[in-house]
Amino acid sequence: MPRCNTEALHLYLIGEIFPQLAPPPYGPVAIRRLIREKPVYLFHEREHGIRVIGKFFESDHIPRHEAWRYAKQSYANLKHVREDFGMNNGMYRVVAPLGLKRELAALLVTELAPGKILDYYIARACYNGQSERLFEKLSYLAGFFAKLHRESETHRHVSSTLTQQYLDKVLNSLQHGPLQSSEGHAIRKYAARWWVANEIFNDREVTVHGDATPTNFFFDHQDVVGIDLEKMKQADRCWDLGFLAAELKHHFMWRLSDRWAAEPFIGHFLWAYAVTLGDISFFQMITRKLPLYMSLGLLRIARNTWLDEPYRYLLIQEARRCLKYGL
Ligand SMILES: Nc1ncnc2c1ncn2[C@@H]1O[C@H](COP(=O)(O)OP(=O)(O)OP(=O)(O)O)[C@@H](O)[C@H]1O
Ligand SMILES: [Mg+2]
Repeated sequence: MPRCNTEALHLYLIGEIFPQLAPPPYGPVAIRRLIREKPVYLFHEREHGIRVIGKFFESDHIPRHEAWRYAKQSYANLKHVREDFGMNNGMYRVVAPLGLKRELAALLVTELAPGKILDYYIARACYNGQSERLFEKLSYLAGFFAKLHRESETHRHVSSTLTQQYLDKVLNSLQHGPLQSSEGHAIRKYAARWWVANEIFNDREVTVHGDATPTNFFFDHQDVVGIDLEKMKQADRCWDLGFLAAELKHHFMWRLSDRWAAEPFIGHFLWAYAVTLGDISFFQMITRKLPLYMSLGLLRIARNTWLDEPYRYLLIQEARRCLKYGL
């Protein structure tokens, strides 16, 4: 457990969180860490069968004042999407935020998302030939994004500023890792052609999830439940679509050593998105600019130090190809 008193945590759970879900008294609470890399826990009260998720934002790398900012942002974003975009029930929704506690290492408590994550279905498609199930889940996920983007569409035109800033940021951080300076140079050169291709940005800004990875979406029959909204922002819809496409490309490439294995799934996902929006011209518009956002997504994944260095370099090369040949 991070820098937080277990007794105080227990009091907080039984005093402020559990009463939202079932009346007292409460039985013992089992605590299970969900992943090694991050302090994310399942709190399970067996008497009533209450299960909630706790994410401690404070860590050795993130001081409390900064962690608290992320925790509050994540809470506010979940609330906003649920209340203002009607994603609190029905087929497409995000988890309910249940509480925030600065003193407990900037803890955010949310409901437990039901079902299985997208990563599970990607692995099944890779190793067990279960492509149809992944196609089906990607259709549902496309529906989730279509709902979020449609509900939040603004009158503002998208601009390349955010994209340029993000590319800069990610290249700067990769320079301390697997990015060679010649490769960095080439990427900046090819990217520069995209910034002046004005027709690419002929779309309106929407709210994007901002962290479209295979562990942030749960599938429960036909329902899709999103989590982790701390990176949500106003941006180009392709921020989500391109990042998800990059994740698909990476997960297939990493597992099967095949650069092309994800292509049918990416195509299907984009098509399903355009069909759900009810406007097929979206398909053309999205696919035109997808390589730009996919390259950002691939570079973002290449920052993960748990991937081996030669593979991270492959991701960077793939990002460069997207920028060079995609326009
Ligand atoms: N509300 C939730 N319900 C069910 N599982 C959850 C919930 N929140 C997190 N998890 C699971 O806990 C694990 C860790 O989540 P976390 O979001 O911190 O890390 P991550 O998804 O690996 O990385 P990222 O920061 O990119 O989202 C993931 O497998 C995630 O699916
Ligand atoms: Mg996550």
